[in-house]
Amino acid sequence: MGKSESQMDITDINTPKPKKKQRWTSLEISLSVLVLLLTIIAVTMIALYATYDDGICKSSDCIKSAARLIQNMDTTAEPCSDFFKYACGGWLKRNVIPETSSRYSNFDILRDELEVILKDVLQEPKPKDIVAVQKAKTLYRSCINESVIDSRGGVPLLNVLPEIYEWPVATENWEQTYGTSWTAEKSIAQLNSKYAKKVIINFFIGTDDKNSTNHIIHIDQPRLGLPSRDYYACTGIYKEACTAYVDFMISVAKLMRQERGLPIDENQITLEMNKIMELEKEIANVKHIISDTLNNVNHFFFLFSFYPILRVKGATA
Ligand SMILES: *[C@@H]1O[C@H](CO)[C@@H](O)[C@H](O)[C@H]1NC(C)=O
Ligand SMILES: *[C@@H]1O[C@H](CO)[C@@H](O)[C@H](O)[C@H]1NC(C)=O
Repeated sequence: MGKSESQMDITDINTPKPKKKQRWTSLEISLSVLVLLLTIIAVTMIALYATYDDGICKSSDCIKSAARLIQNMDTTAEPCSDFFKYACGGWLKRNVIPETSSRYSNFDILRDELEVILKDVLQEPKPKDIVAVQKAKTLYRSCINESVIDSRGGVPLLNVLPEIYEWPVATENWEQTYGTSWTAEKSIAQLNSKYAKKVIINFFIGTDDKNSTNHIIHIDQPRLGLPSRDYYACTGIYKEACTAYVDFMISVAKLMRQERGLPIDENQITLEMNKIMELEKEIANVKHIISDTLNNVNHFFFLFSFYPILRVKGATA
C-alpha cells in the first residue's frame, strides 16, 4: 500500500533536514568579542565605583555634620559680597539667643543636651558605681540641697578666705594681718591648685594637641568675671551688665561684713569695688592684645618654645 501524495508531502515537511554545520561569520565574532569586552569593562567600572574611596567620609556622623553645615549656610547669599551671611545665614534664621543666655552656639546646644543627660545620670544612685562616679553624685547632691546650703549661710566661704589671704574689703586690718606676707604668686597658686579658680593666669594639665597620648601643662589667659571682653567697654548694651556686676560685688562685700559683724561703710566699699572693676578692665584689654597676637593653639607651643621644661611627659591629668 503506497502512501498518498499528500501524506508523503507532510512526512517530508516534518522530517528535519540534516542542518548544514553553521560557521560564525567574522562580523559575528567581532561583535561577540566587543560585547564581551564591554561587559567586562562595565563590571569593572561598577566594582571600582562601589569600592572607590574619594577621601570623603561617608559615615552617618560625617553625613549628619555635613548636613548641619549646609543647613547653617545661606547659599542664596552671594559669598563675595556677604560671606558671613553665606556661611552662617541659615543658623541665624533658625536660632534665637535664649533670654537666659548672652550667646548661643553649637557648643551651647551640646552643653545643654549634655546637662540633661548628666542630670539623669547623677540623680540615680547605683550600688556598683566606681568611686569617681560616687564622688560626682555626692557633689551633685550637695549642690542641689538648698535647705542645707541656706542654713550654712556664708560660713563655708568665710572659713576658706583666710587660706587665700582673705578679701581685704571683707575684713579689718588686712594690711597688718595679711598684707606683709601676701604675694600674688602664692595667692594665684593657692586659688588655682586648691579651688580651681584661675585668676590672671590659666594653668592646667590637659592633652597635648600635638600628641594626644601625652599630657602637658597648658598656660593660657583666664576667663574674665563678665562673659567676654566686650562687656568691659561698659557702654551701650553692656552698660547694664557692668553696673549689675559692680552692684553684685558691693552686695557680696556688704553681706560678708554683716555676717562677720563688722561695720559697713557703703561709700568705702563702693570705692573699692569700682577699683576692682577698673583693674578688670585693664586685664580685659591685655587679654585683647594677647588674643590678637596669639589667637590659636600654637600659642601653647609658642610658650613651650620658651619654657621647654613645662612639657610633662606621661603625666596624668
Ligand atoms: C539635704 O541634706 C540633709 C543633711 O545631709 C539631708 O538630711 C536631706 O535629706 C537632704 N535633702 C535632700 C533633698 O537631699
Ligand atoms: C606620642 O607620644 C608617645 C609617648 O611619649 C610616643 O611613644 C609616640 O611615639 C608619640 N607619637 C608621635 C606621633 O609623636
